[in-house]
This record gives sequence, C-alpha cells and structure tokens, in this order.
Amino acid sequence: MSYPYQIKSYDEYKEAYQKSIDDPEAFWGDIAEHFRWHKKWDKVLNWNFKEPKIEWFAGGKLNITENCLDRHLEKLADKPAIIWEPNNPEERTRIVTYERLHKRVCQFAQVLKNNGVKKGDRVCIYMGMVPELAYATLACARIGAIHSVIFGGFSAQSIADRLEDAQAEFIVTCDGAYRGGKDIPLKSVIDDALIGNKTVKRVIVYTRTRTPVSMIKGRDVWWEDEMQAVTEGAEALKSDGFGEVEVMDAEDPLFILYTSGSTGKPKGVVHTVGGYMVWTNYSFVNVFNYQPGQIHFCTADIGWITGHSYIIYGPLSAGATSVMFEGVPTWPDAGRFWDIIDKYKIDILYTAPTAIRSLMGFGLDPLKGKDLSSLKVLGTVGEPINEEAWHWYDEHIGKKKCPIVDTWWQTETGGVLISNLAGVTPAKPSWATLPLPGVQPILVDENGKEVTEKDEEGNYKGNLCIKAPWPGILRTTYGDHERCRTNYFATYENLYFTGDGALKNDDGFYRITGRVDDVLNVSGHRIGTAEVENAINMHAGVVESAVVGYPHDIKGQGIYAYVIFNGRHFDDELTRKDILATVSRIIGPIAKPDKIQFVSGLPKTRSGKIMRRILRKVAEGETDKLGDTSTLLDPGVVDEIVKGKL
Ligand code: WT7
Repeated sequence: MSYPYQIKSYDEYKEAYQKSIDDPEAFWGDIAEHFRWHKKWDKVLNWNFKEPKIEWFAGGKLNITENCLDRHLEKLADKPAIIWEPNNPEERTRIVTYERLHKRVCQFAQVLKNNGVKKGDRVCIYMGMVPELAYATLACARIGAIHSVIFGGFSAQSIADRLEDAQAEFIVTCDGAYRGGKDIPLKSVIDDALIGNKTVKRVIVYTRTRTPVSMIKGRDVWWEDEMQAVTEGAEALKSDGFGEVEVMDAEDPLFILYTSGSTGKPKGVVHTVGGYMVWTNYSFVNVFNYQPGQIHFCTADIGWITGHSYIIYGPLSAGATSVMFEGVPTWPDAGRFWDIIDKYKIDILYTAPTAIRSLMGFGLDPLKGKDLSSLKVLGTVGEPINEEAWHWYDEHIGKKKCPIVDTWWQTETGGVLISNLAGVTPAKPSWATLPLPGVQPILVDENGKEVTEKDEEGNYKGNLCIKAPWPGILRTTYGDHERCRTNYFATYENLYFTGDGALKNDDGFYRITGRVDDVLNVSGHRIGTAEVENAINMHAGVVESAVVGYPHDIKGQGIYAYVIFNGRHFDDELTRKDILATVSRIIGPIAKPDKIQFVSGLPKTRSGKIMRRILRKVAEGETDKLGDTSTLLDPGVVDEIVKGKL
C-alpha cells in the first residue's frame, strides 16, 4: 500500500491544512478516492451543528471490512495483520495474516448470520484481548450489525445498562480473560448482566480460560461449535455465498461505544461507516507517519476508542501490522512492554502517560538487556503528559531518536484531532501542538466568545471547541439525539464543545489542560463524578456523597469521595471497603475511589447546590485557597472537612 495523502514535510502540512479549510469537500473527496467504494458519494459533506446533522460522503456505498481486508489480499495476503502476544509470555504467539484474518472474519460473519444477526442489529462484545475479539468486531461490520464493545473491567450492572440502552439482542463473550495474574470470569459476569434482561436472544462464548461456565440451553452457544459448522477456505466461502459483504451507506452506523459524561448515565457514542473509516486511516497514516512494513503496537484495550481506531480500523485499513497484547504492562514484571518491543522489533509504540509514569516508578532495571532499537515513533494518548514523563519516554525508550506524538482526541472524535505528525511537524513536551488537516479548533470563554487576550504567561486560555465537522465526528448518541445536541452542540452556538480546557501559544500550538466539566480522567479512563456518586449512594448506609478529582502521581487523577454515612457502622475501614465493593458492583473496579472521607455534611449554597470548588481544593491539599465561603448555608462544615482531610 502507498498513501498518496501522507504528509511528508512541515510545508506540506501547512499546505494540506490550508486546503482542508478552504475547500473541505475537495480535500476529503480526493482522499476518499483512495478507498474501495461500491458507489461513490453524491455529496462529500452536509452539515449543521444546530440539530446537529452531519453527513460525510452521503450516497456513498461501501463496506469498511473490504477496505480493511479484501483490498489487501492481492498484495498483502501473507503479511501479518495482527500479531497477538498472550498474557503469559510462555504461551504461543499467534500471527494472523491478512488472508487468515479475512477468512476468520467471513467465517464468523456467517456464524452471526446463522444465529439470526441482521443489518442494524446491536451486538454487544465483552471479551478479553484475544484475536477473536477483532474477528467478532469486523464480522459485525461485515454484515452491517452495529457492534458495541464493552471493556472487560465493567461490572454486570454496567453491562446490563448498556444492553438495555442499545436494545442489544446478541452478545459475544469469552468464558474468561487473563490479565496479569488474574482470571476474569467474563461469561459469569454476562450471566449476571442478563438477569432480568428481555432483549438478548443469543450469547456466543469463545473458550479462552476454560473456567467453568453455565451454558443456558436455547440461549448460549460455543464459538468453536458455531465456527466448525461454517465451511472454511476462501473458495468455499465464496461459493457458499459466505464472505459476501453487506453494502452499507456511508452514513449507516458502524458502532456504539459508551462513554462517561457529566450526567450519571453513560452515553452511547455512534460512529458511521464512511467518515470513521477515512478519519481513522488518514490520522493513523499521518500522525504516526506509518511506513509500509512497520509494526505498530497500540497498548490500549479494544474496549476503548483507542483500541477501535488504532488497533483495528486505522492500521488494518492501511494494510499495517497491528500488535494486540492480552496482558498488562507489569506482569510477569515491569519489563513486559520492552520484551514485546524486542521480540517483534516494534516500530511504533502508542501508550498512555499513566503507563509511562507507572513504569518510570520501577526505575531502569526492567530495561536492562532489552533491545529497543527497532523503535521509530512513540505516541501518547488519553490524558495530559507531564514533562517529567515525556522526557523519560524520550530518553529511556526512544533514546532521543524517536519523535513523540502527543495525540489529543476523544471517543466522540473517532480519531486524533490535535497532535504533531511524527518527524514531520515540530514536537513540544506536554503540548499536543497542531490540529490535523480538517480540524478547526477555537478557544472560547464562558460566553462562547473567542478568547483574544493572552494570560500572564503569554498564552490564550479557554474552553476548547471545534468550528466545523471532520469526517470522524460522532453523529449521535444512540437512541437519544437530543442528548447529543445538548451535550456537545448546545453549550456554545454552532460549535462542538469538547469538555476540555486548553492553552494556545503564538505558534498556534495547543496544550490540553484537562476537563472543565465534572468528568475525571483516571489512568486515561473517563469517569463521570455523578456516576461514581450514584454508585456510592446505592450503599444502604450512605445518605449523600460528593466526588471530585485530585492530582495523582501515577493515575493523573485520583478519585476523592466525601461521604455522609449513617448506616450500621463497625469501623471506618470496613465501611470504606463496603463502599468500594458497592462501586465495583455498580460500575466496575476502575471507578473505585482512592480516598473516602466521612463527613457529617457537605458544603452547600443556600439553594442546595454542592460547592465542588471547595471540595476540590481540599482534595488537592490547597486548604489555604478555599476562596469565599460566605455564601454557604453552613460554613462550619468546611472546617470539619479540612480537619478530616485524608
Ligand atoms: C478525554 C477523552 C482519545 C482516546 C483516549 C481517551 C483527555 C485525551 C489527551 C492528550 C491531554 C487528553 C481529554 C479528552 N485526553 N488525549 N493527548 N492530552 N488530554 O478517550 O475516554 O473519550 O477521553 O481524554 O480530557 O477529553 P476518552
């Protein structure tokens, strides 16, 4: 594969950027020509941010899996599409060539059909990081079913809510998943999620850990049995009519992915086929400056958008080799990433600042004897990277010869929006730098006015919005378009609001400073404070709670909960554990508070609103900067809270 739209110099970037703004339709129309379409689009772009209504390549017909698989078969059939590294380094690696991946996807697509899955049906995928997870995802896309992948760390209750919201009729799962020293009983979590569920008709279970599972007659079937029932072999696939794709409209939904916002209920972000394909491919090829033959290792889980876009769709649509790792960076020891890089001679490493900071904590010993000389490009994603971590990554992993791309984006954006392009545009530690072509950021104040005055450090500072659509922008939130409008398009008129604050310098570089709404970023995972509060409040003894973030050395942000408790109380430690167990059960272990402080009241205004500003300051340890507390109903609670600070 070659990428005629790959940007090769800073000047070329400037030229492409200008063109993308002057004539977006010509710009994206040219790029879209390089994909396989059954029918070209009638119109490149229709949009308004009022409703919002956004259509890219309307009238175009395609299937994204033909672009990820079939079109590579002529030249890349024997090339690895996926290299799978198991949790246990002693276990056999699996190398899935493009030809094999194509076969497996066609085969599983047929399994889905045999089980009654049709175009537009929602299929929930809850699996560990095994190649079959990629097969299942692509198989859905192949037959036009809408996949909704749920991260393995979410609880049965969270899954139940998502199944209900998506009205999902099908689930693909595993008996269990290996993660480090743990075996996670996925199927049993699904069984719990299905108590009381009325929509799910079929559960397909892939065998990974051989943990005992209860297969329910008429509902549950084994992946292996179903696959066997479908004939293998490309020719057989063709002659049986298998492998045929569902021809999709460019604006048909491809997937739903749930993410947290400032309300208590996660939103099902919807991406559509054509725009998402173009955006993930274009951003992959340009941000990482991907060269044919290179091996790309994105350490994210496919349960998050990073895995969707930069393990599956971006790399595969570019004919790249994508590494999929089942385990965790610190098991069996903290040298695991470095072993993997050495083992497969990885070219591109894409990971999160939280992983870098955690590995930094183990010192340089785990790096001893690991050959990292294959690395060409490093990337980070998910949260702001502090300078210390940036320099450690640069010095000890990239050996000062690998550009680092700091990629800012969101579940809603489909792919990277602001980042330097590896080795092509300048980097600046802890700055995401410049927008990709097609992306028009703007910093606004509280009233939606563009910020035109610099702060004392010489930067513009404001809330980050985007002025016009790029192909990967979300189209709606599943089942509730109004929610999409109010969440993203109503805060400021005619702008997409990201929820992030940012700085901009005189070079036009952006630095993302973090969320300005009630959303936390814990280890690169988005968690709504309202969601955590709701979960804590489920505990029988809890009267009320308030959750805020505080700076955490490794996680970026930690979760600090203030809890009013009047239930049966043995001792604080036990009650804390009870509350953690409750949060784990309601949301999942990822949302467990790091600190729980018991209080007798919360600082409230006379109108009954919790003053989070004060709680944040206390959690951050800035108790001398509480500001004006005179408007509080009972200023006395503040003293108590300050005294009891953990
Ligand atoms: C939020 C989106 C996008 C994939 C992973 C997270 C924060 C993301 C960066 C970055 C500073 C970043 C933002 C954003 N974020 N990348 N490079 N620098 N902050 O996806 O779960 O949708 O979270 O992650 O706050 O809004 P997500």
